[in-house]
Amino acid sequence: MNESSGVASLAKKRLLLGITGGVAAYKAAELARILTQAGIDVQTVMTESACRFVGPITFQSLTGNPVFTDLWTTNADNNMAHINLTRNVDAILVAPASADFIARVAGGMADDLLATLCLARDCPLMLAPAMNRQMWENPATQRNLSLVQNDGITIHGPANGEQACGEIGMGRMLETCELAAAVQAVLQPKLLQGINVLITAGPTFEAIDAVRGITNISSGKMGYAVARAALEAGANVTLISGPSCLTAPAVAKLLNVMSASDMFNAVKKEIQHAQTDIFISVAAVADYRAAKVSKQKIKKTEDKLTLLLEPNPDILSYVSNLPEPPFCVGFSAETEELEKNAQIKRKKKKLPLIVANLAQEAIGADESALILFDDAGKHYLPKALKIVQAQHLIKHISSSYK
Ligand code: C5P
Repeated sequence: MNESSGVASLAKKRLLLGITGGVAAYKAAELARILTQAGIDVQTVMTESACRFVGPITFQSLTGNPVFTDLWTTNADNNMAHINLTRNVDAILVAPASADFIARVAGGMADDLLATLCLARDCPLMLAPAMNRQMWENPATQRNLSLVQNDGITIHGPANGEQACGEIGMGRMLETCELAAAVQAVLQPKLLQGINVLITAGPTFEAIDAVRGITNISSGKMGYAVARAALEAGANVTLISGPSCLTAPAVAKLLNVMSASDMFNAVKKEIQHAQTDIFISVAAVADYRAAKVSKQKIKKTEDKLTLLLEPNPDILSYVSNLPEPPFCVGFSAETEELEKNAQIKRKKKKLPLIVANLAQEAIGADESALILFDDAGKHYLPKALKIVQAQHLIKHISSSYK
């Protein structure tokens, strides 16, 4: 793990980057650069029409590897480029994937080097479609997409927007950073393969009356990133989320809740019925709720209003105090005395691991700096994207969890 750069190291991972004929081929050069910088060994294969949009030399320079374009090359030792090139790669991404190329993959064709490699693979294949919106909408293309998806091939994109032809609609290739993230996700080591992980995320909302309530400020970004990183690591993930505007990752089970009591009940039920190996409590649970919730909207008067609050259950403490608790990870968002408060909380809640961050810096942000406290001491994770921090955290948990 390269903690100083904030990029989870994917050194020794190999990607075959396929490029087919489309204007978006120029974006593939940037993608090749980003992936190579992340430590991935990128092997480029281009179709004949891709070479009309961008030159193979560009990719050779960016990746440091020779570029293959022809099934009939005599460079390969045994003249078996179509087999050799897929034998040692961890994944294949074709970006851009033209409508024609998707059709050829759907039909199991092997009429050029790239299509042959896709057919002769034993690794995950991802396609990033890029085409004119009418080509995208055509029933033939949609039919082909269903076929390849049924064959276990992953489709990334396309996006909606302005196209090279001047039209507006679906068909733009996803942005290079989004594709790079998808590749990195597939290449993550499967450190939690088959492990059952329960995660809480987001805030809780405690009603006061029919239209008002109290909550903690939380976007859910960190919790959702942890869920994504656990999935990437091969875990079976259940996500219990308070109200959030984010799109949840495709977890095994998603439970949407509102209040701390709802979250508590959902956690208890999940722990009773499923064998939870790891519990990661990222949610910003409201500590108090209204002692009495008014069914009607409370009317405004000139008088002061006193609201009686009662404490909510501490979900994490409940779980960590079970006779046979799962490996429990807490989060400690503090505004002051971060390290001291986090360590006190770790002891009080009997946690093998707690993650501390400064509330004013982390809440709602895409990046955060974290400190992990466990029996071995403290571990600093300098400011980085929350998904990168989540990947570091999952790696740390996998080495501590037994
Ligand atoms: O005590 P504090 O709220 O600061 O503790 C934070 C940790 O405890 C977080 O992991 C949070 O998800 C969890 N927690 C909980 N139930 C509560 C309050 C906090 O599970 N009622």
